[in-house]
Amino acid sequence: MTTSIAIQNIVKDFPLGDSSITVLHDISIEINRGELTMIVGPSGCGKTTLISIISGILSMTSGDIVIAGNSLKKMSDTEKVLFRRKNIGFIFQQYNLLPALTAAENAAMPLFADNVGDDAITKAIDILNKIGMENQSKKLPNQLSGGQQQRVAIARALIHNPNIIICDEPTAALDAKTGKSVMEILKDIATTKDRIVIVVTHDNRIFHFADRIIEMSDGSIIGDYKTEDFIEKENT
Ligand SMILES: Nc1ncnc2c1ncn2[C@@H]1O[C@H](COP(=O)(O)OP(=O)(O)OP(=O)(O)O)[C@@H](O)[C@H]1O
Ligand SMILES: [Mg+2]
Repeated sequence: MTTSIAIQNIVKDFPLGDSSITVLHDISIEINRGELTMIVGPSGCGKTTLISIISGILSMTSGDIVIAGNSLKKMSDTEKVLFRRKNIGFIFQQYNLLPALTAAENAAMPLFADNVGDDAITKAIDILNKIGMENQSKKLPNQLSGGQQQRVAIARALIHNPNIIICDEPTAALDAKTGKSVMEILKDIATTKDRIVIVVTHDNRIFHFADRIIEMSDGSIIGDYKTEDFIEKENT
């Protein structure tokens, strides 16, 4: 269904006292399916704000996001929620797990909307096992390490097989080996299944998994690179 995401002249202001502060300045770019796109840039440059707007979690001040012909600006809040639930898997920087649910129940959340019950838990355990979470499925979030919670959030984003996967620092709490296996899964979804995968990261250990790297600074896009060119630039 999804061919691309067109980000069109996005401006985002946040209220600040009596006035407001602009954190995204007229951002326009196209993101393609079939490749893993990374968004990089210093802390505070607007990465989380941008991907929150792309997924319809946060409203934009002006501009539009068009996903396979669907304009987010034209959707009501309810339509946006339904669109996101069906099409987007989102991995939050802060995981956002529900504290009263087990790892498997948290991971199965996107399926509960469709009432699939036991099947959903089986599927969740299956995905958790693939990312090194054997025997963790019955634990509550506060019984898991940061890296384990992050993997529950990753399983939750993948479980409903979404067309678009958007990840905010997915490897931040993971050791090198687990981070690599998560990135291999994301890369495979992008290239083999021909989906849109966007990864926000600071982690230079994973840059090489990208096909394309978009660099942000201070609320603007300052570069759009093939991965080899970005890595070469960083190393010189
Ligand atoms: N709700 C808000 N109200 C006011 N300012 C905000 C709000 N959310 C974010 N900001 C500001 O917007 C800017 C961009 O924040 P954002 O979270 O998008 O940065 P980021 O690139 O994701 O940073 P990090 O790498 O640290 O996660 C920051 O200056 C931040 O202080
Ligand atoms: Mg952020």
